[in-house]
Amino acid sequence: MQESKLFELLHSLSWAEKVGQLVQLSGDFFHGEELSTGPKQKLGITEETVKLTGSVLNITGSETTRRVQEQYLANSRHKIPLLFMADIIYGYRTVFPIPLGLGATWHPELIREAFEVSAEESRSAGAHVTFAPMIDLVRDARWGRCLESTGEDPLLNADFATAMVKGLQKEKDGVMEGIASCVKHFAAYGAAEGGREYNTVDMSERRLRQDYLSGYKAAVDAGCKLVMTSFNTYDGVPVTGNEFLLKHLLREEWGFDGVIISDYAAVRELIDHGIAKDEKEATQLAMQATNDIDMKTGCYANQLEPLLKEGKIDPELVNDAVWRVLKLKNDLGLFEDPYRGATPALEEQTLLTPENRALARQVASEAIVLLKNEEELLPLVPNKDKILLVGPYGDKQDIMGLWAVHGKASDVVSIKAAMEKILSPDKFSFENGCDLLDDYQFLGEFGATKEQIASVGMTSEQRIKALDDALSAGKEADVIIFAMGEHTMQSGEAGSRTDITLPEIQKEFIRQMIALDKKTVLVSFSGRPLVYTEEVKQMDAILQVWFPGLEGGNAIVDILYGKTNPSGRLSMSFPHSVGQMPLYYNEFKTGRPLNSTTHRGRFISKYLDSPNEALFPFGYGLSYSNVQYSNLVLNEKQMTDQLTISVDIKNESERTCLETVQLYVQDVVGSVVRPVKELKKYKKVQLAANEKKTIHFTLCREDLYFYQQDMTFDAEPGEFIVFVGKNSQDTLNESFELLE
Ligand code: IFM
Repeated sequence: MQESKLFELLHSLSWAEKVGQLVQLSGDFFHGEELSTGPKQKLGITEETVKLTGSVLNITGSETTRRVQEQYLANSRHKIPLLFMADIIYGYRTVFPIPLGLGATWHPELIREAFEVSAEESRSAGAHVTFAPMIDLVRDARWGRCLESTGEDPLLNADFATAMVKGLQKEKDGVMEGIASCVKHFAAYGAAEGGREYNTVDMSERRLRQDYLSGYKAAVDAGCKLVMTSFNTYDGVPVTGNEFLLKHLLREEWGFDGVIISDYAAVRELIDHGIAKDEKEATQLAMQATNDIDMKTGCYANQLEPLLKEGKIDPELVNDAVWRVLKLKNDLGLFEDPYRGATPALEEQTLLTPENRALARQVASEAIVLLKNEEELLPLVPNKDKILLVGPYGDKQDIMGLWAVHGKASDVVSIKAAMEKILSPDKFSFENGCDLLDDYQFLGEFGATKEQIASVGMTSEQRIKALDDALSAGKEADVIIFAMGEHTMQSGEAGSRTDITLPEIQKEFIRQMIALDKKTVLVSFSGRPLVYTEEVKQMDAILQVWFPGLEGGNAIVDILYGKTNPSGRLSMSFPHSVGQMPLYYNEFKTGRPLNSTTHRGRFISKYLDSPNEALFPFGYGLSYSNVQYSNLVLNEKQMTDQLTISVDIKNESERTCLETVQLYVQDVVGSVVRPVKELKKYKKVQLAANEKKTIHFTLCREDLYFYQQDMTFDAEPGEFIVFVGKNSQDTLNESFELLE
């Protein structure tokens, strides 16, 4: 529709119709033949509100979305289509690894392809908008939503944000072929105090800008159509009502003119936060902050019109918000085709194609991180050793993680299924061995009934037998592969934990099995960095596989048997203990560092009972090839605008490998304290057997910008150290001087 027509449409709407565009309800209002009347009591809204609602949350499937749209339009005076928004976070039916695994690929271009697939599949199933990417920077593994983040680094997160938005909103000849992307959760949701979900966020504006905003900014620059507010406060004000963040920073400073949507019930939660006394005040605060859509509360629906009548809200604020929603609908072409081409036939032909599955396998392979490989136990040789696969994840298809709501476990390839394809029965056996959890009571928190809780897991008799069977089978084996990990429900939203080790029942099982004195491999599934201090001592090899998605089993077996050379690198530090949280490689210098020459012994910045550094640092990951770094050269010792940095890398193995060359910088003296190291460049490079390459990086002055004492964003002349290597710890270094 032409913009002038859209403008006329806006002005032909009644206030009730305008408010309707700013209300989002969930799918349960739209089930059945008629618009449902059931759940509206809870929100205190009327049938009229449901009829006028502008968008709906989490209804997918072309048949359902078509039916709901048809019914909705039949009741609509102006025939403004309903927007279908959904959580399609890391794949629709073709489920990729969780985003923390995507971060470990260090391969944004590949992830862009994955998100194109995700958009194509979900568009065919009727989705118009996805609440992705989630790009919240996270430094605390206690937080369950680590799972949805690409990790702890501002640069890496920004690169993934760009790739994900461009993939989702894929364009052809200036027309959006994909679906609209809603970046979330603006801002700094990943910095909840103590890693406790929904908790307070309080940090300096410098740190916010320097570290936490980069991902959202990159998404906005990449053209994302929507931004979702976060549940947390920032500097004492919940984000949904925070004028500084939404109105001034996001809209005025960054020029974002798309739709801002609150997270689920966040407008009403302004009352629980204690900054609004009732729904009317909550509505006023959110509207004044320029939050356009109210997700799943009755606040806007019931309070906006009274506020307008009382003159407490500027009508232009409401008109602007409605305009942004109408414009989004128009940009998506909904006035021409309210279904955007979604049909059951298209869906059938688009979902889960062999090409999509192949991509999921590649992504999963690149996401898996080899943490330990003593005496080159891996890769195994098919049918050489006798293998016992044990553990609750050995034959499990539920390996997609908490947000894969559209994936089907029956489509997933388990490790056992993948191993059976390549191993003969006399060389391979499987035993469950132990239960996943000691007890499942916590599932009650997620709505499971007592009966459901009692029906999961093993009885005590089954546990005894499973252990006996595993011990007997283990005696016959040469190599034992342990498929262990967190329960799916232990990470993701509201999955904060203070104990981030493997469940105790699994640790006890490992202790018993280790006594058999066989070669051992741990394949660990989790939605966060876990503490592996015990397993590092017990196991010969450790593979971190996250929740790897549909093709997880194949990708893991590809790596175990050397069809793929592992290439994943951690995008989040793995700690020695939970007490180290928050833990991140790019920490600030302290006045009493570990290597202090003036203070020795006790009075330095350290723990008495733990190292300062990570057990496995940011950027870490092994492969089956030894890659040597040498000859770090800076083309100049002084820099004005840019510098060329080169390093030689040599694959000293007979296998092709993928090496991620990482470049970090330290600003030695600044007007404010600077991090010990910051990632500035990286390249994922393929090296053939025994191949040597020289890798070049260009470092620009802008790469050295930071927020100075007066908040100017600029670089300061002086000495810098460049570190180049295979992870944030293992590097070569050289220094240069930045000139005025
Ligand atoms: O998109 C999500 C968000 O991440 C958490 N709260 C609910 C939203 C919609 O389902």
